[in-house]
Parts: sequence; C-alpha cells; structure tokens
Amino acid sequence: MCGIVGYIGKREASPILLEGLKRLEYRGYDSAGVAVLADGALKLKKYKGRVTDLARNLNTASLSGSLGISHTRWATHGAVTEANAHPHVSHDGKISLVHNGVIENYLAVKKFLESTGVEFYSETDSEVFCNLIAYHYKKEAEDSPTRFLDSVRRSLRHIDGTYGIAVISTDCPDELVGARKGSPLIVGIGKDEYLLASDVSAIISRTSNVVYLNDGEIVSLKDGELNLLTNDEEILTPEIKQIDWDIAESELGDYEHFMLKEIFEQSGALENAMRGRFSDDKSSAKFGGLNVSAQELRQIDRILLCACGTAWHACLVGEYLIERYARIPVEVEYASEFRYRNAPLDKNTLVIVISQSGETIDTLAALRESKRKGYKTLAINNSVGSTIARESDGGIYQHAGPEIGVASTKAFTSQLHILSMLALYLGRLRDMSFQEGREYVEALKKAPALVTETVKLSGKILEISKKYKDMEDCLFLGRQDMFPIALEGALKLKEISYIHAEGYPAAEMKHGPIALINEKCPVIVIAAQPDIHAKLLSNIQEVKARGAPVIAVTNESNPLPENLVDDQILIPDCHRALLPVIASIPMQLLSYHIANLRGCDVDKPRNLAKSVTVE
Ligand code: G6P
Repeated sequence: MCGIVGYIGKREASPILLEGLKRLEYRGYDSAGVAVLADGALKLKKYKGRVTDLARNLNTASLSGSLGISHTRWATHGAVTEANAHPHVSHDGKISLVHNGVIENYLAVKKFLESTGVEFYSETDSEVFCNLIAYHYKKEAEDSPTRFLDSVRRSLRHIDGTYGIAVISTDCPDELVGARKGSPLIVGIGKDEYLLASDVSAIISRTSNVVYLNDGEIVSLKDGELNLLTNDEEILTPEIKQIDWDIAESELGDYEHFMLKEIFEQSGALENAMRGRFSDDKSSAKFGGLNVSAQELRQIDRILLCACGTAWHACLVGEYLIERYARIPVEVEYASEFRYRNAPLDKNTLVIVISQSGETIDTLAALRESKRKGYKTLAINNSVGSTIARESDGGIYQHAGPEIGVASTKAFTSQLHILSMLALYLGRLRDMSFQEGREYVEALKKAPALVTETVKLSGKILEISKKYKDMEDCLFLGRQDMFPIALEGALKLKEISYIHAEGYPAAEMKHGPIALINEKCPVIVIAAQPDIHAKLLSNIQEVKARGAPVIAVTNESNPLPENLVDDQILIPDCHRALLPVIASIPMQLLSYHIANLRGCDVDKPRNLAKSVTVE
C-alpha cells in the first residue's frame, strides 16, 4: 500500500528520505511528500505524482534539517490530490504525520474535532488522526518530558482501524515517534541515526539492523535513544534483527524493468528455494522452520491453503500437487472470504497461508482467525521478519530475494516450487515410495536449468506479442493444474497491459465464454499435458471453428498440428510436478512484452500496489 520513511540523525534528512521513497515507490505511487523540521520550523513539500516528480520539484537545500518524515501514497480516503497527499499537518501547525492504513471511526473523530474549532483541508482520515494528536498534545502538561509521546499514545486509544504512523512535532526537534497496528513499521538502526519505515527496502542502503514493531507498540526515537513501549505504557526491550538482503538485489542493473529482471532471476530463486532442503537419502524434502513434527503431520486430514492475488493462484496449483502426490484433501480459500465465512473446518486441518510480502492484511487476518480457532498454521513467505512470518506457528521462507515489480513473477514460481517440495515431503510421510521420492527429487533439481532454457523464449514471445499487442480481449484456457496457470496468465496480462483477459478451465469454455469468441478475441491455450492432449485439441478446434486466433503453449516433444494454431510456444519437457513453473514463464513473458509494446508502465501499473495492507 502506501510507504513511510522517517529519519532522525546527524545528516540531512531530505536526500535520505527521498532515496527511501524511491525504493518504496512500488508500494503506492499516486502522490508523495516530505516534511523536515529545522529550528522549530516545519518545511513541507507534497506532489501529486511519482516520487521522481517530487524529487525533481524539490530543492533539498530549502528543506534542510536532520529530522523528517515522508510518504508515497496509494489513495484510500480521498482522491489523488496534493491536499490529500501526506505528510499532513495539524491545524495549529505543530504536528505532522504520515500514515498507512485506514481509520474506521474517522468521521466521528472529525466531527468531535470540528466542534473544537479544527478546520480540515483534505478528505483524508490521516489528517483527522494528525489533528487528534494535536488535540491531545495541547492537553498534556507543558513541562512533561514525554508530552509528545504521551499525546500520540492517548490518541491511539481513540482510533479504530489500522495504522503505521511516523509523527513529528515542531516543539520537539529531537524526537520522531512511530506506532503500529495492522500496518507494518520497522526501525532501522544506523550509525548515529535511526530510520522508521514501512518496509526494509527503504532503509537497506543505510543499515541492516532493524527492530520490527508489533501491533500495539509505539517507538520514540529521541536523543540517540530508542524507546519501545506498548500502548499501555509497558516498557519493552527492543529485539534487534539482522536483514540478510544484498542491496544489489533491489537494483535494476542492466534490465529495462524489474519485472523482466525478476523473470530472468527465477532460476536462482528456485535454487534458493531448494538449498539445504533435501533429505540425506535424497528421497524427500526437509524444512527447518515448520515447527510441526512428522508425527503431527501424519495426523492431518485436510489442508486449507489461503492467500490473495497471485499467491491464491499458487494455492490452486498447490491443491493439485498435494492431492496428487500426498493424497491429502486440500481446500483453497481467498483470505478475504475465509475470514468472514466462518467455515467449519475439520479439527485435524492444517492451515497454510501464502504471501510474498508477508503483510497482506486479509491473509494476515485469515492467519489470525485460524490461530484463534486453534488450528496449526504455516506460512510460505518471501519476507523474513514480516508480520505473517512472525505470527504463524512455522513456515517456509522462499528466499527468492526482493520482488520489486508490482506484478509477481519470481515469487509466484518460487511458491509453486516450494509447494512441489511440500507435496513431496507430505507424500513421503504417507504413501509415496522411496524410489518415487528419489525420482521426484532428481526432477526438482532440474528446475533451475529448465527455467534458464525457458526464459530464452523471450525473443520468440516478443515477436508473437507484436502480433497481438492491440487486442482488447483475450481468453486463457487450461485444464487440471494448468487452469490456475491460465488464471495467472490472465491476471498478469490484465494488471500490466489493461487488456481484458479471463482465465477459464478449457472444457468450461463451452458453458459461457464461448459466446465471446470471435476473430478479435485471441485464445491462449496451455496444452502441455500429454495425458489430456486429445481433449485440449478438441477445445482448440472449438475455438478455431469460431475464428479466434490461437496461441498454444505445449511441450517440445508434442507440438500441435500447425493448421490448428496460429502461434505455438514450445516449452521444454519436464516432470509433471515442474510443469506449473515452466508453463508460467511464457505467460509472464507474453504479458511483459505486450504491456511494454503498448507503452504501459510495467513495474507500476495503474491503481495497483505491491503490498495491500488495507482491507
Ligand atoms: C497485491 C499484489 C499481487 C499479490 C497480492 C498478494 O495485489 O499486486 O501481486 O499477489 O497483493 O500479495 P502477497 O504479498 O500476500 O503475496
């Protein structure tokens, strides 16, 4: 969602804040702003547009000071305007705040503040929050050394909703206050400086030592000290964690876009997912952080996979993999639906949530709901230290490296690969034989090389993309576990190229979508399973009979008759458990090239954000 960066230290704050914002921009990019305090005066610059536009329009010399806060916005309350951009400033000019999250009772609080004479300039809930702090600040004893911190703490008691905030006060030129409930916030501990941020990527160039705030915690960074406490004033000892990111991983290098870079990084991401994760006899997988014994896993009768967006598509593939190889019944739920559905679950259900960021609010809520009901929970997650990673009973880190492109690519295939490994592990705890396990492990190890071979199709897919770049509708078809890959292909294309695309089970096409098919609606068919090739061929015939162009993705050893397809993408033959990963790559490349040819902003598609931390 939105991104927060705050700084307090001995250096000029604004260049550091701007650098942090640039690294965070994938969280939201409709407007941005910076506020810096110097000599008791607040200097503020906001801009409707990208961080680069803000940077271009900002004279850092005029924003001199070593304490500041900044924000990049993804609009929730109020349109995209300069007035609605953060930082917000209280009506008396004393408090400035940046906020991620949603304040649900903001109308009631606003009404109350208006009755005390406060005037509002924006439509945001965040400005209300800012003025509530100013209201309490005025009421605190003037000589209290903790006046500012106490006013933030008191305000939080009257706030319903979610927040990650960074706040400064013109009366306190040496203090930066942060608080968290439901929206991530971390403190970076640098040399003679502290940073506050919603995401490690904002601060990684300055420090790798961080403190993750938990919900209900407040931090005061003042006079070179970090004071962490709960909303109830309990003093906490901060736990300093080390981030193991390589800064180069979050930079573009020679690539034109992060999405393309991340597509090409998939081979390495799969290597990382497998490192140290096979049993000594090479017949099974092993995972260090599951915190569930083999004995307990044997008792599991059902698995619930839960996620949002692309990670939900990974769950759908996981259903096929786990049911096929481990013979455990699996259900898949959208996290946002699960939390309100109150579905009865079997008592021996294992809940697995999947989240690249580890911060998606609906997935987090589903995890918490499952825990509240007493289920064992695991997380497949790419962000060490994220809220989901910390709150689940155990899990599997993806180690795919930072994913910056808003459209998920390497995180998705790494989730698929981990699900294949999990299916193997669970299968070996049940009926899968030693020999089958050995062959499975051998196959999984081939994945990185196969991915390297598959991404070489980029040039050919670019040529195909040129033919179809102007289409306005298209259909993705697949059967079995290629159905979720069709769904993901359609999602990828629509999110970055704004072409209307739908994914469908190939045989279901006859029950509705066939009405859409004509020569202007190309159909992408994933026909890569030899066992059902004949069935897919008849689906293709049905499409061809209605004049639609067909792009087929199939195996090298099993090409389709040329008269049936307009274009054909041949992927390497592979073990059945690897097919979802390999078949995903042409989908990613097709979306990437089409979006790029249409002149779309591939890494920052309109209206989207990388991590959705509001409901
Ligand atoms: C957003 C992103 C998607 C992502 C989804 C779930 O919608 O744009 O790419 O799949 O959130 O994110 P998560 O971090 O939980 O995997």
